[in-house]
Amino acid sequence: MKISNYVLMLSKVLLLALSATATTVAFAASQEGAIARGEYVYDIGGCASCHTKDTPLAGGVKLVTEFGTFFSPNISPDAQYGIGGWSNDQFIKAMRQGISPEGEHYYPAFPYTSYANMQISDLLDLKAYLDAQDPVSEPNLAHDVGFPFNQRALLGVWKLINTGHQWTPDLSQSESWNRGSYLAHGPSHCTQCHTPRNFTGGLQKDTGMVGNKNGPEGESVPPLFDVNKLAFGGWSEEDIAFALEIGMTPAGDFLGGSMSDILENTTGKMTAQDIQALAEYLYTLNNS
Ligand code: HEC
Ligand code: HEC
Repeated sequence: MKISNYVLMLSKVLLLALSATATTVAFAASQEGAIARGEYVYDIGGCASCHTKDTPLAGGVKLVTEFGTFFSPNISPDAQYGIGGWSNDQFIKAMRQGISPEGEHYYPAFPYTSYANMQISDLLDLKAYLDAQDPVSEPNLAHDVGFPFNQRALLGVWKLINTGHQWTPDLSQSESWNRGSYLAHGPSHCTQCHTPRNFTGGLQKDTGMVGNKNGPEGESVPPLFDVNKLAFGGWSEEDIAFALEIGMTPAGDFLGGSMSDILENTTGKMTAQDIQALAEYLYTLNNS
C-alpha cells in the first residue's frame, strides 16, 4: 500500500470512530433530555397520586369504586414485580388502549381513557423517565372485585361503548387554549372527575365537565363548565389560575377532597405557563 493511501484509510477509520463517539454522546444527551421531559410528563399526568403510597412507583394505593376495590400496581422498572423490560410499544398500548403486554384489558380505574389522548412523544419521554428510576421489588396486591366485574374479558364490551373518541386541537383557538384543553382531556385527566359518568361507569363525553354528583369515593365534584354560565360564579382567569396553583378560591376557601391530590401531584407541579393555559381554556369555555 502506498503511504498516501494508508494515511487516507487511517484518517477514514479515525473519522468513523470519532463520529461513532459523537453519536453515542448525542444519544446520551437526548436520553437525558427525554428523562427530564418525562419527569414533567409524570407530574402533569398525576401518576404519583395513584402509584405512590410510600415508596415511589411501588403502587399499593387503594381505590374504592362502585365496581370494586382496586390496588394500583408497581410501575417501577423492576423486572419481576414492576414494568421493567417493557418495550415502548407495550407501554404505549397500556397507556393509550388499556391493554397489558399479555393482551388483557385494564380496568378503567386506571384512567387510560384520558391517557389515550396523550401524544406519543410525551409517552416516550415518560417511559424514559420511569426506566431511569430505582426498581422496587414489591409484589402487586390483588384487586377485590366481585362477579361479573372480575371478568376482564367483559372490559372489551365496556371499551366498545366508552372509548374511541380522540382529542383533537381546535384550530380556531390559541395555542395556549389548546395546550389547556390537551392537559384537561389528556395527561392531567380533569375530565375523569369533573365529567359525569354513564351507567357503565364511562365518561359522558357529550356533556363536558359539568360536574359529577357521584365522584370518587361518593363525593360531589363541582362543574368546570355550565351552558348557563353558572360554573365558577364570576371567577376571573387569574382566579382560576390561582386556585389551580395554590388551591384557594376567591372566597378564601381551600379546595379539598380528591382535588387536594391533584393540587399536590398535578397542578401544583405545573409550570406557570401550563397553569395559565388551563386557566385560559377553562375561562374561555365559560365566558364566550
Ligand atoms: C386514578 C388512579 C391512577 C392514575 C392517576 C394512574 N394510574 Fe396507572 N393504574 C391504576 C390502576 C388501578 C391500575 C391497574 C389496572 C388493572 O389492573 O386493570 C394501573 C395500571 C397501570 C399500568 C399497568 C401496570 C401493569 O403492571 O400491568 C401502567 C404502566 C400504569 N398504570 C402507568 C401509569 C402512569 C405512567 C400514570 C401517570 C401518567 C398512571 N398510571 C396514572 C391507577 C392509576
Ligand atoms: C380525582 C378527582 C379530581 C380530578 C382528577 C380533578 N378534580 Fe378538580 N375538583 C375535584 C373535587 C372533589 C373538587 C371540589 C373540592 C372542594 O370543594 O373542596 C374539585 C374542585 C375544582 C375546582 C374548584 C371549582 C369551584 O367552583 O370551586 C377547580 C377550578 C378544579 N377542580 C379544577 C380541576 C382541574 C383543572 C383539573 C385537572 C388538572 C381537576 N380539577 C382534576 C376533584 C377532581
